[in-house]
Amino acid sequence: MADTVPSIEALLQEGRTFPPPEEFTAQANVRDAGVYQKADADFEGFWAQWAEELHWFKRWDKTLQWDPPNAQWFTGGKINVSYNCLDRHLTGPRRNKAALVWEGEPGDWKVYTYAHLHREVCRFANGLKSLGVKKGDRVTIYMPMIPELPIAMLACARIGAPHSIVFGGFSPESLRDRINDCQANVLITADGGYRRGRVVPLKQNADEALEGTPTVRTSIVARRIGDDANVSMKEGRDVWWDDLVEGQSTHCDAEPMDSEDMLFILYTSGTTGKPKGVVHTTAGYLLGAYATTKWVFDLKEEDVYWCTADIGWVTGHSYIVYGPLANGATSVMYEGAPDYPDRDRFWAIVEKYAATIVYTAPTAIRACMRWGESYPAKHDLSSIRLLGTVGEPINPEAWMWYRENIGGGRCPVVDTWWQTETGMILITPLPGLTTLTPGSATRPFPGVQAEVVDEKGDPVAPGQGGYLILKRPWPAMLRTIYGDPERYVEQYWSRYPNVYFTGDGAKMDDKGFFWILGRVDDVINVAGHRISTMEVESALVDHRSVAEAASIGKSHEVKGQGVVAFVTLKEGVETSDAMERELKAHVARKIGAIARPDDIYFAADLPKTRSGKIMRRLLRDIAEGRVLGDTTTLADEGVVEMLKQQYEDDE
Ligand code: WT7
Repeated sequence: MADTVPSIEALLQEGRTFPPPEEFTAQANVRDAGVYQKADADFEGFWAQWAEELHWFKRWDKTLQWDPPNAQWFTGGKINVSYNCLDRHLTGPRRNKAALVWEGEPGDWKVYTYAHLHREVCRFANGLKSLGVKKGDRVTIYMPMIPELPIAMLACARIGAPHSIVFGGFSPESLRDRINDCQANVLITADGGYRRGRVVPLKQNADEALEGTPTVRTSIVARRIGDDANVSMKEGRDVWWDDLVEGQSTHCDAEPMDSEDMLFILYTSGTTGKPKGVVHTTAGYLLGAYATTKWVFDLKEEDVYWCTADIGWVTGHSYIVYGPLANGATSVMYEGAPDYPDRDRFWAIVEKYAATIVYTAPTAIRACMRWGESYPAKHDLSSIRLLGTVGEPINPEAWMWYRENIGGGRCPVVDTWWQTETGMILITPLPGLTTLTPGSATRPFPGVQAEVVDEKGDPVAPGQGGYLILKRPWPAMLRTIYGDPERYVEQYWSRYPNVYFTGDGAKMDDKGFFWILGRVDDVINVAGHRISTMEVESALVDHRSVAEAASIGKSHEVKGQGVVAFVTLKEGVETSDAMERELKAHVARKIGAIARPDDIYFAADLPKTRSGKIMRRLLRDIAEGRVLGDTTTLADEGVVEMLKQQYEDDE
């Protein structure tokens, strides 16, 4: 397989282009290339026009109030996300259409029509109310990929209680920190979930987390596993989902929310050890998810749309739940691993439900490439008409493989760039319009203004590397960091005045297409998931044998990047393979399996500047086997030479 991260020179020479197939354009939701210019000339009007497609209890007064860095969209409006995702579809033929198609890892499955989903959401919303959950109360959700997860989200949205979903792969400690940061009163979890045939002990993790969360009064437990789960329910705190909804009415009015009321918090890693609670609000977020789903995925009434992400990440929020359901679409959701029971599971699911749109991550595509063509070849994939990718840069080889082996060479591939903070896709092809080039996310969505700039904020020439910035607010942009408004300003709006700093490096080519190069901050992108170097380092130094630690991202053939750590041990502690294993397990236990380092290198010392800052850049050079960059600011040059030698010996 070719390099995961091709050089930008190689990328910019990528000559292959794929104009949209004529038949695709003929039926596409957007066919008029004039949308870009029109939206550019009046971006507020462009978004206001989209807003007309939503249901409002009360129409908005003002489309945008922009006091950088604070945006308010559709002020004066009253709207409910759950109403837009459910009730609105109940009066016509969509009433009995499949809203959610759920496939469990063991092979069990369920289909919820819009009418059925609405009833279940109402019953659970009434259950939450019976526990005293009110508008504005935060509810943390720590669940496997089972239907109760979207039901819980839509119920929270219905009564105006912001949810904070914590990915089920996170550790008890990570869960505890996130609960405490937003002071949730209620936790929703399950007795477990299935992953590669094994039971993930979510309830046990939750119990451990709840030992240090004084605000949580109630924990609701959905039953996924049953008797094998062996959970213990704490009297007075824990309640079974089924018992809570028993006898609840299937009617629950949707709370008319202000456009700018908080819809959810989602924690993501930043440059410090403490995850940031990204805040999304009601109207703008819904609108962004709705509009991009409709245009980027060319969503139609009869589509069977499948996004393979976990709802614990923003991709699942926007493109499994809110975007597709706001469009009245059929959204597929799968509980488990792509290689269980075998490596053709994704393609078996596509065939079983005749999925027409598939949205996945480059990591998954590269894993499938490695497993070989025979797995997709076993299945009838002719239902697919559009493919999408998200989460990390996709190398042209993987893009081509996806197009050929999954899309049969006939489907457009949309490479979509966005972030937890942006809430919605911002750089992407429009499949009926854009001539694609493998490896490029192509152009900003209409109404979005992106640029590549240098340190001073000046635009760089085509082909030059720089920082990716956004020059205009967009409806689904984050509004703040929960409980830390200063960090919001500092993180995103301080590098350049009134301009959003993405944290990504990028280049623009002479066609005006964007090529995303990856993070320029201390964030590692492992398989499309964000991990901060500081989080890994704090986890390591928390171990009794560790004196100092530095972690970096190193290119990885499948995952894009993997975590590598350099560690100095305390006096008298011996380095050993056992110690390496122990430290890897320690990080996984502290944060979650996604943060487990691929490699740990023991060092006598770490390279530091004279002011004591660890020079991660040099460690990256060492790990990637590159010629060392500038070492003149090092306090002790010998340290680096020694490390480099040692690293090469170990390899
Ligand atoms: C970071 C955001 C947004 C959903 C999943 C990740 C990287 C995302 C792409 C893409 C190149 C991409 C960026 C971004 N990224 N999509 N199509 N091409 N890079 O959300 O965890 O908030 O991470 O993912 O580096 O900043 P996230």
